[in-house]
Amino acid sequence: MIYRIQIFAFIVTLSIIFLCLGQTGEKSLVELKSDWKFINKDNLEFARPDYNDANWKSIRVDKTWDKQGYSRNEGFGWYRIKVVIPSSLKENAFLKDSLIFHLGKIDDFDQVFLNGFLIGENCKNVHSGSKPSNAFKNLENSYWNEERNYSLSVNDPRIKWDQENVLAIRVYNWGGPGGVYSGDLYISMPDISKYLELEIKPGIFTTHKQMINKKILLKNKASKYTIDGTLEVTVKNNITGNKLFTKNYSLHIKPKKQMEIAFDFPETKQSTTIKYEVNFDKGIRSIKYKEGVPYILTPPKKPQPQINYPRVYGERVGKPFLFRIPASGKRPMKFSAQGLPTGLTLDTETGIISGKVMQKGTYDVKITAQNELGKDQKTLRIVIGDQIALTPPMGWNSWNVWGLSVTQDRVYAAAKAFVEKGLADHGWSYVNIDDGWEIYGESKEPKRKPNGEIRTNKKFPDMKKLGDDIHALGLKFGIYSSPGPLTCGGYTASYGHEFQDAQTFAKWGVDFLKYDLCSYRKMMKDMHSVDELIPPYQKMNKALQKVNRDIVYSLCEYGLGKVWEWGAKVGGNLWRTTGDIWDSWDRMASIGFNQEQAAPYAGPGHWNDPDMLVVGWVGWGENLHYTKLTPDEQYTHISLWALLSAPLLIGCDLQRLDDFTLNLLTNDEVLAIDQDPLGKQAIPVIKDGDIQVYKKELADGCIAMGIFNLGKSTTKYTLNLRKIGIEQKCKIRDLWRQQDLGIFGATFTTIIPEHGVTLVKIFKTK
Ligand code: GAL
Repeated sequence: MIYRIQIFAFIVTLSIIFLCLGQTGEKSLVELKSDWKFINKDNLEFARPDYNDANWKSIRVDKTWDKQGYSRNEGFGWYRIKVVIPSSLKENAFLKDSLIFHLGKIDDFDQVFLNGFLIGENCKNVHSGSKPSNAFKNLENSYWNEERNYSLSVNDPRIKWDQENVLAIRVYNWGGPGGVYSGDLYISMPDISKYLELEIKPGIFTTHKQMINKKILLKNKASKYTIDGTLEVTVKNNITGNKLFTKNYSLHIKPKKQMEIAFDFPETKQSTTIKYEVNFDKGIRSIKYKEGVPYILTPPKKPQPQINYPRVYGERVGKPFLFRIPASGKRPMKFSAQGLPTGLTLDTETGIISGKVMQKGTYDVKITAQNELGKDQKTLRIVIGDQIALTPPMGWNSWNVWGLSVTQDRVYAAAKAFVEKGLADHGWSYVNIDDGWEIYGESKEPKRKPNGEIRTNKKFPDMKKLGDDIHALGLKFGIYSSPGPLTCGGYTASYGHEFQDAQTFAKWGVDFLKYDLCSYRKMMKDMHSVDELIPPYQKMNKALQKVNRDIVYSLCEYGLGKVWEWGAKVGGNLWRTTGDIWDSWDRMASIGFNQEQAAPYAGPGHWNDPDMLVVGWVGWGENLHYTKLTPDEQYTHISLWALLSAPLLIGCDLQRLDDFTLNLLTNDEVLAIDQDPLGKQAIPVIKDGDIQVYKKELADGCIAMGIFNLGKSTTKYTLNLRKIGIEQKCKIRDLWRQQDLGIFGATFTTIIPEHGVTLVKIFKTK
């Protein structure tokens, strides 16, 4: 699963969100949650109903097999279960035509057999008589995040009604976690809800005169059934508990028709949730869905100049220097600098500082930014020494948005958006290509030039030009490779060409290299062994030291061998502490709230990397969708990453940046926490039920604090300030709202919505 991520649909189709409301007593489904047996081998005989699986081990289907003692490596596993399918299922059903096997999510590929016959493969039903072939596992994209629902006609002779049936699942994992894992497995007949599709388009709202408007579509996909029922819409302010809107719509949707529903409710600037519930006749599962309403907390940007973060920047002696002063405010703006080290020049129109410094030293440069409305002056500390990445890198990476469909144009479009949408004015500077720029490993084309130099594929016609174009904007250029022969996506990588590739990257103007373990794992005896992990990373480090420019070195090996303990020794400026992130609360939170053991190892020049951001339009391929994190979860994501001093790499389509996401990414008081020069990673100081309090010490002696609510309901929480080491009165400032909240003595009380955060800065008073 860490290799590739399946394409998501553009419009979120919510018809899969069936929640079982009051059962009517009649059996409407057969649970398949337990009694599964497992073997980590492959043999098509395992599909046969009479195969003797007595020696197989029991397995749970609510977690992947690697969490149950089996390997995370590439390989097969088989699951079997014996189950009686009662004919009462079809007698009681509303729609009597088919039987559905709901098998949840399977990581990565699957073939499903009923009584020895193949009935489905990789999310699709197969024709009766289909024979299983091994090709099911040789696909470009994994299906690890997709629901498997296979259906058979009720008259299909492969179903043995009222008798024992054997269901067998053949799973192939191409790396990382593997197996059947989402837990809610069952057999049922479809009901009318199967034909109703709710098109909600999460994240898309319009606001007019402080009223928010939302439109949804209800589509009847059936060709012969009319859908009758009700839709209840409720909009609630989660902080006050006030209902902002509630209405019951009666539904009568003819076959193949749709119904549009539009409603308005007042804007609150507070956490707000819309709940949708469709009810049909008794006994039919209702459909429930909820979505958060984006609410912007970041105050509007001032037109006067404001110099933002980072305010400290390092480069090595004699290496090309490039730094774009992050300053917001109305353009045109004039920049000036006092105390620039010899060798650097400032472009007074763009604020780009460039050149080369031949003298080691720490230079406090007085920067002024001026426009017709005013001026701002701040100190920028330039450190010419041995270290780079003095604050966590901030930028964009192509993976979470484009996956392997990244192109040169898409990368340059991201760079341009950094400037045009103002992100560069808030410190966003690295524009990084992830996997997919090299020649595909299985392609017949030569992977390298006759002299061994790595070639780009045709989506990247001119890498040097791309680097130059990005630099011309004052931004930095990043690239990706692997110490193995192939990247995770199966493209050519650096094995055996490390020194040459580093030189080529330098020639192209690369400023950042993400070096992803991928296929190198196959060359290791034990992928957790530190002794085996260090050499490939050390080798590339040596190669990077030899080139004529500074290249930020990003180790990507998913936290194996506690990389935080040795990452800095092999020259790493950042290292991934986990497997891949994706846009679900469970995934983001399980990564973000588990960074404690690596915390002591973060600091200027070397950072723990809990993976990239999952806000905005993401997709890991051509088809993008709006992040599935609610607005509160997104506030948590950015606040937590800032407190963790994490590298901030946006992974969304910057052409399609909505106001909410833009504001989330350009709150300078929040970004200042991430970019704080002390570089101390926050740790949890209180864990109290669903509440976790993170504390980060800052260079100015203040404290940044995040109070997170990991629970499912709004919570009022009173923090005892003594417990976090604050003995005297203090001033507390809300960082998202950029507002002082007042002077506090012994306690501080805040109301936090489900999965939300209160992020503050605490100023000690004398
Ligand atoms: C994964 C890595 C991802 C992405 C992907 C590319 O191993 O963790 O961040 O780089 O490979 O194939």
